[in-house]
Order: sequence, then structure tokens, then C-alpha cells
Amino acid sequence: MRLAEIDLYSPEVFVQGVPHDAFRLLRAEAPVHFHAEPGGVGYYAITKYDDIVAISKNPGLFSSARGATNIQDYPPEDLSLVQMMMLNMDPPQHAKFRRIARTGFTPRMVAALEPSVRATATQIIDRVAKTGECDFVRSISAELPLQVIAELMGIPNEDRQQIFDWSNRLIGFDDPEFQNTYEDGKVAAAEVWGYASQLGAARKGTTGEDMVSVLVNAVVDGQSLSDMEFESFFLLLAVAGNETTRNLISGGMLALMENPEQRARLVADPSLIPSAVEEMLRWVTPVMYFRRTATRDTEIRGVKIKENDKVVMYYPSANRDEQYFKDGDKFDVGRTPNEHLAFGVGEHFCLGTSLARLEIRVLFEELIRRLPDIELAGAPRRLRSNFINGTKALPVRFTPEKAP
Ligand code: HEM
Repeated sequence: MRLAEIDLYSPEVFVQGVPHDAFRLLRAEAPVHFHAEPGGVGYYAITKYDDIVAISKNPGLFSSARGATNIQDYPPEDLSLVQMMMLNMDPPQHAKFRRIARTGFTPRMVAALEPSVRATATQIIDRVAKTGECDFVRSISAELPLQVIAELMGIPNEDRQQIFDWSNRLIGFDDPEFQNTYEDGKVAAAEVWGYASQLGAARKGTTGEDMVSVLVNAVVDGQSLSDMEFESFFLLLAVAGNETTRNLISGGMLALMENPEQRARLVADPSLIPSAVEEMLRWVTPVMYFRRTATRDTEIRGVKIKENDKVVMYYPSANRDEQYFKDGDKFDVGRTPNEHLAFGVGEHFCLGTSLARLEIRVLFEELIRRLPDIELAGAPRRLRSNFINGTKALPVRFTPEKAP
């Protein structure tokens, strides 16, 4: 492969798998690489760990708000809408959001969820355990994050399927199975705003402990969220909390099935599960990039970056950077150290880390105990996306559990 042949943009490329060969070559030969963008001005692909850390920790120079965080630019009227989400804000506005968001996401709130996460994981596995086969994505990995985020936000049972469909339509923008047009994504977003607006209004002034009640009533340093800010936050949570965790669980399960000796280590010693979770995060890296936009002329590794140029940080590449990960192409459930960047780093470091880690650990504890011989029963189907490392279907089989 030559540099000129590298394509990190076409979603079609990712249907085959994450292009790790291309990332390896870029790290070695062009860690700040100008990449063409069909219909756009192009961007710098950033593939080294240290550069991603430095950019993420310098929001004054590399903005999340100017141009937002996806590669493609939005039409101006849509840009101002996506800038209502904290993901697409810069300090000092971002700090206000972060402070309020934290009131709805305290480690105590998350730790208190463990019994209900375990009960949900158990129920999900109960439904398939006696059948001996299932589509792992539909029956297991899609279900848990959806139920958990819905529980945390206090979304009534009868509305949960709807949240799931919206989240698919919003994120699957390059996969015709979910959404054919940009417009359809906008319609889905408008529907989520409408739903959030009703739910928020009903809970204003209440003392409920669900996250929606906490967020609409929070006053931090004399500041609270406007209705529109709350609705945008709801949208971000409904999407960020679902797709990422779901794809981590599917990709992590696939890695265990493809590396049976690693799975055997977990079956023999479940105390390795927390480090296996970190290795799954490194290995799968469900979010493949976020973008920043330069606020003035600068340089990275001697490459000149002009004001308004786009830089795109490729987390899967950082997570196999030879400088930080020995034998990075090996899946090793006991890997230490493992300071991966799957949750990002710096100003926008993922707000849902403890929740995601809890869900993944509890689910794999139950899976390893109850379905220890789970194996692939057909070819996985991957999401067509250059943004989310996703699995749409993962046929599996296992020894059915006997009725008690
Ligand atoms: C395996 C699961 C997850 C992965 C891989 C992941 C990944 C990420 C990454 C890479 C960022 C950084 C964005 C940036 O630097 O621009 C981020 C931010 C964020 N994540 Fe996650 N995430 C996961 C789960 C969750 C969950 C479960 C939630 C909430 C329920 C969540 C909520 C958020 C929010 C609100 C932000 C924006 C934070 C900010 O702008 O300050 N994430 N996530």
C-alpha cells in the first residue's frame, strides 16, 4: 500500500474492517497527512497518540465548536443547532455544561445502578439462553445500553423502542439500511427534541432522581439549562450512550470468539474481566474519530495548519501506536499498561465512561459464566460508516442452558 492509495473517508472501506494497515503506514510515514474529502475542502488525518492528546487538550487552538466535530461541514442553519450539544462547544460555555451534566452523572449514581444493570443483563441472557443460538447484536448488545440509559433517564418502557429507532437513524447516516438522506436524520433529531421537550416539561419542579428530572431542575453556580439546551443534551445522551456501548459489546464478543485462548483465560479467571474490558475498548475503539478546527495558523510535527483547517483524530490508530502499545495488533485480555484513548482525552473526555465500563463488565461477567462456549455461527455484518466501528449482525451459537 502507498500513501496515495489510502482512503479513510469512504464508508465502504469500513465495511471490510478498520483499515489498520493504512493507519500503520500513516503513523510511520505521514502522521499529519492531508486527506481529500469528496465535496469538501479536505482535512489533516492525525494518527499518532501524542498528537491526539495534545490537540484534545488545547481547545483554544483546536475548536470543537467551529465547524463541529464531524468531518463534513454543516449548512450554517444546522451548525448552530449541533452547537447546542456540549460535544460541539468550547470553553467557557462547555465548562458550564460539563458542571451541570456532572450533577446527573455522579459516580455514586452510576455505582448505584449495578444491581439494576445486572438484573437487566440477566433478563436479556435468560431470553436466549435456552435457544442455543441468536443474533448477538439484536438480542444482547443492542438491548443492554438502551435499557440502561432509558432507566437512568427515567424513560417509560413503552417509549424505549422509539428511542432505539431514533438513535439508529441519527447515527447510521452512511448506511442505507438505517437512513437514506441527510433530511431523514434531521427529521429524527426534530422528533427527539419534541419528545425531550414533553418529558422535560413534565418533570420541571419535581424532585425525581432520574437524570431528566435532575438536569431540568439543576442550578449550578446560578446557571441552569435552557429548554433547547436540555433537549440537545437529551439527544446527545440518547445517541452517545447507545451506539458506542452496543458496538463495543459486539466487537468485544467477536474478539473473544476469534481469540479462543483469550476467552479461555477469562473463563478460568473472571477477575481478569475488568482488564479485558479495557482491552476491548482499545481493540474495538467504537468511535473512530472526532474532528477539531484550527482557530489560527499553527504547525503539527512541522506540517503547516492554517486557520479553519480541519484536523481529524483517529482513535483506532492511537490505540495501536507502537510507542504506547507493545504488540498492539494482539488482543490480550491481561494487557497492562493500557492507557487507550477510546473515550477520548482532555476537554471533552467521555462523560459516560463509568456507566459504559459498568455495563460492559457486568454483561461479560454474566456471559462468561452462563454461555462460556459461545462461538460464531456465520459471517458478521458490519456497519457502513467511517465514524462508528459498528456491527449490524453477529450470528452466534452456544450450548443451550438446561431448564432448572
Ligand atoms: C464504549 C462506550 C463509549 C465510547 C467509546 C465513547 C466515546 C466517547 C469519545 C471518544 C468522546 C470524546 C469526544 C471528543 O473529544 O470530542 C465522548 C464524549 C462524550 N460521551 Fe462517550 N463514549 C461511550 C459511552 C458513553 C455513554 C454510555 C454516555 C452517556 C450515557 C456517553 C456520553 C458522552 C458525552 C455526553 C460526551 C461529550 C462530553 C463533552 O463534550 O464534554 N458516552 N465519548
